[in-house]
Parts: sequence; C-alpha cells; structure tokens
Amino acid sequence: MVAEFQVFRRRTRHAPIYGIGILTLLVFMAGAAFRGYTTKQAAPGGAVVIRETPADSVADGQRIFRFDTFGDEQFWTDTLHMNQVVEQSVDPTTALAVGLKVDAAVLPPGILQKVDLKSPATTVALLKMGAVVGIRATVDSNNHITRLGITCALCHSNVDNSVMPGIGRRMDGWPNHDLNVGGIVALAPVLSAAQKAVYQSWRPGKYDPRYNLDGKNGALVIPPAYGLARVKSETYTAEGPISYWNAYVAVTQMHGHGDFSDARLGIAVTQSPDMVSPKLPALRAYQHSLAAPPPPAGSFDAAAAGRGRALFERSCVSCHVGVTGTDNNAGKLHAPAETGVDGAYAVRTATKAYRTTPLRALWQHAPYFHDGSAATLADVVTHYNTVRKLGLTAEQQRDLVEYLKSL
Ligand code: HEC
Ligand code: HEC
Repeated sequence: MVAEFQVFRRRTRHAPIYGIGILTLLVFMAGAAFRGYTTKQAAPGGAVVIRETPADSVADGQRIFRFDTFGDEQFWTDTLHMNQVVEQSVDPTTALAVGLKVDAAVLPPGILQKVDLKSPATTVALLKMGAVVGIRATVDSNNHITRLGITCALCHSNVDNSVMPGIGRRMDGWPNHDLNVGGIVALAPVLSAAQKAVYQSWRPGKYDPRYNLDGKNGALVIPPAYGLARVKSETYTAEGPISYWNAYVAVTQMHGHGDFSDARLGIAVTQSPDMVSPKLPALRAYQHSLAAPPPPAGSFDAAAAGRGRALFERSCVSCHVGVTGTDNNAGKLHAPAETGVDGAYAVRTATKAYRTTPLRALWQHAPYFHDGSAATLADVVTHYNTVRKLGLTAEQQRDLVEYLKSL
C-alpha cells in the first residue's frame, strides 16, 4: 500500500495544469517523459502542491465510499436533471426493480408497512433519510429534491435482503448485479435517442466506463471492490493502482468535481477545488480493508475441490498465480487470444491487454470475464477446456468447478 502511494505521489509532480471546464478533455501535450496520470492541485501563483498523505483512515474511507458524491451533482442534477426524474416518476417499487438497494439500518421501525411503495413521494422520503444505497439527495421543506448525486456504493455495494429483496444491511464491495445503471441513466430527458439506445443496451450489472469518452459501446461486468489489498493494478486491463482508477471513475464517470489526467488516454480535467484527490488515501484504505467473503458452509464439495485443485495447478497457475491469483502483480498482461476472450474492450484502454483477474469469492459474483461472456463457473471451465485445448473430461471439469467455488 505504501509503495503504491509513493508511485502515485511521485507521478504527481511537474504536470502543467490547464484550467478547463467540466467534461472538457484536452489532449495532454506536455510531459512526454511521463506516461502516467496525475492528480494535483495548483497553489496560488501556479506552483504544484504535493499533498501529504493524511493518516489512512478506514472509517473516513467508508464514509467516502458510501456517502461522498465528490460534487457530482453538477452532472446528475445540473445536466441530467435526475432529481426531477426521480421525484416525478420513480416510486420505490420501480426503484427496487431497476436494482436500487435500501439500507434497512436507517429505516424507522415499521415504516415499510405504513408507506405506499407505489408512490414517488415515498422514494423522496427514503432519499431524505439517506436510505437509498449510493444515491444522495437534498430534499427541501416542500419535499422537492433540489440536489441529487451518486456515490461509489451505487455500483459496488449490495444489501443482504434481510428485510425483503433489495432491503437489508449494507454489504460494501459486493457488486450490484441487479442494478440497471444504463436503464436509469436513459431516463434522463436531455439524452438523444441514440444515446438512450446505448445506455439501454447495457442490461443490469454492467456499465461501460469509457462510452462517454470514446463513444464506443461495450459494457463491462461491475466487478467486486473487495479482496484487492494485495492486488497491485486495478481493472480488467490493469490501468493503474487503485487510487488511479478511483480518481478516473470519480472524475470522468461519476463527474465529481476534481482533477484527473492521463496522458496515455489524452485526458486532462482540472476543476478547482479538487474534491477528489484529497480523499483518495482514505478511500483506498477502506477498499483494502474489504476482505473477499468466504464461500458459505456446504456450498461446494470439498473432496471434488481437492481433485480440482490439482487440475488448477496443472492448467491455470501459470497465470492465476500465488495468493492473489494473478500474474499481473509481476507486471504481466495477456493478449485476448491467450484466453479466447473478445478484444474489443482492450483496444479502447491504456494497456490494450487484459489482466489475469485475481480470483476471489468467485461463488459470489457471476457472470465472469470482463464482458460477462461466461454465465457460470461451468461455462468458464468449458471455455478454457476448448480454447486452451486442455482435454479435461466432464468429471474433471466438474471437479475444477468445485475448486473455483471454494476460492
Ligand atoms: C456506475 C457504476 C460504478 C460506479 C459508480 C463506480 N464503479 Fe467502480 N467499477 C465499475 C465498473 C464497470 C468497473 C470495471 C472497470 C474495469 O475493470 O475496466 C469498476 C472497477 C472498479 C475497481 C477495480 C476492481 C478490480 O478488480 O480491479 C475498483 C477498485 C472500483 N471500481 C472502485 C470504485 C470506487 C472507489 C468508486 C467511487 C469513486 C467506484 N468504483 C464507482 C462500475 C462503477
Ligand atoms: C494465459 C493466462 C491464463 C490462464 C492459463 C488461465 N487464465 Fe483465467 N484469466 C486470465 C485472464 C487474462 C482473465 C481475464 C479475462 C477477461 O476478463 O476477459 C481470466 C479470467 C478468469 C476468470 C474470471 C474471473 C472473474 O472474476 O471474472 C476465471 C474464473 C478464470 N480466469 C479461471 C481460470 C481457470 C479455471 C483456468 C485454468 C483452466 C484459467 N483461468 C487459466 C488468464 C488466464
């Protein structure tokens, strides 16, 4: 963790800053010697200030992960007018149907029996209590939503359904595969029909974190945000360490108010004040504190998993190596053809190749591969058996699946 931040900080120097408006992307002309990214802030007089690391604080990071919008109301309210859309047309039944989750911990006892789950006014009331996971709203005394923004928890948290489906205790780091992000965004009246068609094509549990930048369409499975403490580079294509990606998403996707630059992608966004960069150390500390959930008792056949492990060691550990299950910690990347996956997404990224996905809590987060092309672990194994000509029998494939369920 320390090493990662040093890399992060080292790269924050010497970058000229262009004052540009929100969503304006400039080709980053200067600094040919440096191919990384920057998060930085201009001091009066133009000097670049390197922020000192505040004491890493898991509690602060949890608050940021769950509740911080980074000022992204400038997009979700001022541009998309989602506050009006929600207030006028999203009743709680609809909200749950598009995969939004409700945090039971903040609900007054008995409230769900008393309210009308078919009325948008109930959604407004839930938002006012801060009960909708990943959405923050300011509600005035006339029950109008004046500001609305999103947080990291929208996509990377779920609930345990202890009250009813979609309502329960928060489970941070669990990807929300019920969430139809594209379907929600497509409700915004300002979008063109063509844009709406793209958003609607994503389906629940998927999101394209580059469509707004390159105009191409290829949604990714929302990955878990747990089990990353020992993983050096984040994302399906290993774009950079965790704080790199957190800043990328907060500024270019959530449209928070802050700085993000990456010369590799020709992105340079600066917005003062920077409401993102100072929060990155705590956010990282919290994410790194999120352990992968162990498989539920009895959820796999231990004897078969033992046999499967030997098969895994024969056919898979060349890439899924060590405790993290990825050779990317040693800097390796893989051309799409090596694993037989679609290369269309990789070419849109900075690295153009895929990271061996760190294997963690596979039982929990189907579908698999960046594009969700394998619906089940059995599909994953069948895929490898075919593409890499492993010659596994049906029984061996079943054993390997049991092993994957145990990870
Ligand atoms: C709209 C949905 C959405 C929101 C909001 C969102 N993410 Fe993500 N996140 C994704 C998707 C999709 C990916 C996959 C991108 C990739 O790997 O190329 C991802 C990838 C990640 C990863 C990489 C996981 C891995 O296996 O390497 C981390 C870490 C992460 N997000 C953290 C965050 C944080 C922190 C925030 C808030 C600042 C956030 N995300 C907000 C959808 C979202
Ligand atoms: C040549 C390197 C390589 C080998 C060998 C390899 N993998 Fe992978 N694995 C990858 C890469 C790269 C990805 C990411 C592909 C993607 O997301 O499209 C991946 C992804 C996966 C995933 C998806 C994880 C997720 O969360 O989506 C599973 C499961 C998996 N591999 C299991 C296996 C098994 C089982 C074997 C052995 C039969 C194996 N892998 C062999 C490189 C490899």
